[in-house]
Amino acid sequence: MHQATVFLLSALLPLSLSSERDPFAWLYGWSQRYHYNSLQADAKAGACPDACDCPPSFPVAMYCDGRGLTAVPAVPAHVKYLYLQNNAITAVPDSALVNATNLIWLMMHHNQLRSENIGEKAFSKLEQLERLYLQHNNMTSLPPNLPRTLRDLRADHNGIEKVTPAELEGMDNLTILYLHDNAVTDMSTSLKGLKSLTLLDISNNKLKKIPEALPEHLHQLYLESNSIESLPVDFLSHFTQLQYIRMAHNQLTDKGIPPNTFNVTGLVELDLSFNKLERIPPVSTTLRHLYLQANQIKEFTLGSFCSVVDVTNFSRLQTLRLDGNEIGRQDIPSESLLCLRQASSIEV
Ligand SMILES: *[C@@H]1O[C@H](CO)[C@@H](O)[C@H](O)[C@H]1NC(C)=O
Ligand SMILES: *[C@@H]1O[C@H](CO)[C@@H](O)[C@H](O)[C@H]1NC(C)=O
Ligand SMILES: *[C@@H]1O[C@H](CO)[C@@H](O)[C@H](O)[C@H]1NC(C)=O
Ligand SMILES: *[C@@H]1O[C@H](CO)[C@@H](O)[C@H](O)[C@H]1NC(C)=O
Ligand SMILES: *[C@@H]1O[C@H](CO)[C@@H](O)[C@H](O)[C@H]1NC(C)=O
Repeated sequence: MHQATVFLLSALLPLSLSSERDPFAWLYGWSQRYHYNSLQADAKAGACPDACDCPPSFPVAMYCDGRGLTAVPAVPAHVKYLYLQNNAITAVPDSALVNATNLIWLMMHHNQLRSENIGEKAFSKLEQLERLYLQHNNMTSLPPNLPRTLRDLRADHNGIEKVTPAELEGMDNLTILYLHDNAVTDMSTSLKGLKSLTLLDISNNKLKKIPEALPEHLHQLYLESNSIESLPVDFLSHFTQLQYIRMAHNQLTDKGIPPNTFNVTGLVELDLSFNKLERIPPVSTTLRHLYLQANQIKEFTLGSFCSVVDVTNFSRLQTLRLDGNEIGRQDIPSESLLCLRQASSIEV
């Protein structure tokens, strides 16, 4: 009530008075009518909570970040961009966001959210939500009933152990999914049907195998620091747009990699460093960056890069790292220069 009164009063004040201390005053002249309307909306739907800032110049945003909050403040219905990061919020009950149905961005990273304190319907009414940041919290699973409208979901740096198909099903527009630095052992078929997903980061988890049903439009697949020993046959053949694969710090062996797995065009960067490979896997001549350092490679096989060498058949490789293996510069035959003619850096 108090807040609403203040807002009404300031709306009635002559503009010249308030312009003295408001750095955004120049905007009012330009959109005076808009400003006035937004203040009316505030008064109706509940005003800006004391702990937060709602800049008149950007009335659809509410900034509540870094203020030591332990609970979600009341959110006026017109707010579209809500910043709640860097607080100590532990819970999102079903009632917390009931009025916030216009939210497009919800930033809640760096809080202390625990899965058991997130209501079954806490996020389910946010039918416009596109971006949800939940990284650096204390969740052990993704919240239930997330809006299907999400495009960018970040839940890295939590204690998530499992992702189930129901949690992500129908998120047709999800483009970015961050799950790195969790404790995921099982993804089941949860990624199936994420037809817009281009960036998937599940590094630093406890996966023993490649997740099933990886979406076919991926551009970037990050799986480093897991416990993956082998790859499925034809693992990469479904992807038409995959450019970056990072699988450093896994348990990959030669036996675990079916022949020609990485000999696919389109790939730009392949990181297989810190694994247990004894041979250089065959790669496509179109690959640009190959990281194989800290494996157990005993032999330099030029055929892994070029099966034929002539004017048109050569490798486009620019970076090749082989340091920390069981070979030295003397093991690289001189004819390699023809094949690896574009390599600007070869480290052994
Ligand atoms: C939601 O809006 C209703 C009606 O304006 C109000 O009574 C209620 O306190 C609001 N709840 C929250 C959590 O903002
Ligand atoms: C959340 O995790 C952090 C870091 O692991 C820890 O310090 C904190 O006590 C946890 N908070 C809760 C509410 O569990
Ligand atoms: C995905 O985006 C399109 C276009 O913006 C929209 O029409 C559609 O409803 C969205 N899908 C979901 C599941 O939200
Ligand atoms: C990669 O595959 C192509 C055909 O798809 C083949 O001609 C080439 O020899 C293969 N490269 C290697 C290094 O095995
Ligand atoms: C590479 O070598 C093969 C076999 O000699 C030849 O058919 C092909 O046209 C050459 N060029 C490219 C770009 O593959």
